[in-house]
Amino acid sequence: MPIKPRDRLIVALDLSSVEAAEAMVARLGDAVSFYKIGYQLAFAGGLAYAQTLTGAGKRVFLDLKLHDIGNTVAQGVKSVARLGATFLTVHAYPQTMRAAVEAREGNLRILAVTVLTSYDDRDLKAAGYDATVTSLVATRAEQARTLGVDGLVCSPEEAANVRSIVATEMALVTPGIRPAGADAGDQKRIMTPAAAIAAGADYLVVGRPIVAAADPRASAEAIIAEIAAAAKEN
Ligand code: C5P
Repeated sequence: MPIKPRDRLIVALDLSSVEAAEAMVARLGDAVSFYKIGYQLAFAGGLAYAQTLTGAGKRVFLDLKLHDIGNTVAQGVKSVARLGATFLTVHAYPQTMRAAVEAREGNLRILAVTVLTSYDDRDLKAAGYDATVTSLVATRAEQARTLGVDGLVCSPEEAANVRSIVATEMALVTPGIRPAGADAGDQKRIMTPAAAIAAGADYLVVGRPIVAAADPRASAEAIIAEIAAAAKEN
């Protein structure tokens, strides 16, 4: 089933309070159906707010990047499933992925983060790895596929390569999206929404180009229109 263009946009609620998040969600209205909650909001009341959002018919991506011993991951995943979340991230370590996949229930889907996009080859070496980012991303994508993980978070630049490893069976979710002409902020490896779709992304995570825009709803609608045009061509 093709995903509707509007449902491919995930807006990152990188805001400091539930009040600010509520105001943003109200401004975006029915333009946006899917929200991402990360550390900043999750640890400031955002987990309870996730449940409010799912209760209101929105989908929620909890970007909590779990990594712990298997039992702890499994119990955490069960609690997240009860919040009604659609996506939850874990780091792509085999034990962690296995525990998360086995514990998921209801609508919850597990996404693995292969290698954080802030890491380069030198950072991996400093962390004790004898691998390049490219090779580790490929190894972990393959492991995630074998373990039955539902999707992967990757940079738009990695998407085409990762897509060739996992065929069409896994959802690819890409942050680092900037409409042409938008401020890159601290993102180094960016792509336009159209280019990310062409590279094989299923869902695009967009934060500041929407939440920091003068007119967030208009910005979201412009991105959705770009996704729709690109999806038709690909
Ligand atoms: O504001 P911006 O569009 O850059 O926000 C992107 C969102 O995606 C942020 O919530 C950021 O934490 C998240 N993210 C990312 N790169 C990753 C994983 C997550 O930018 N590799």
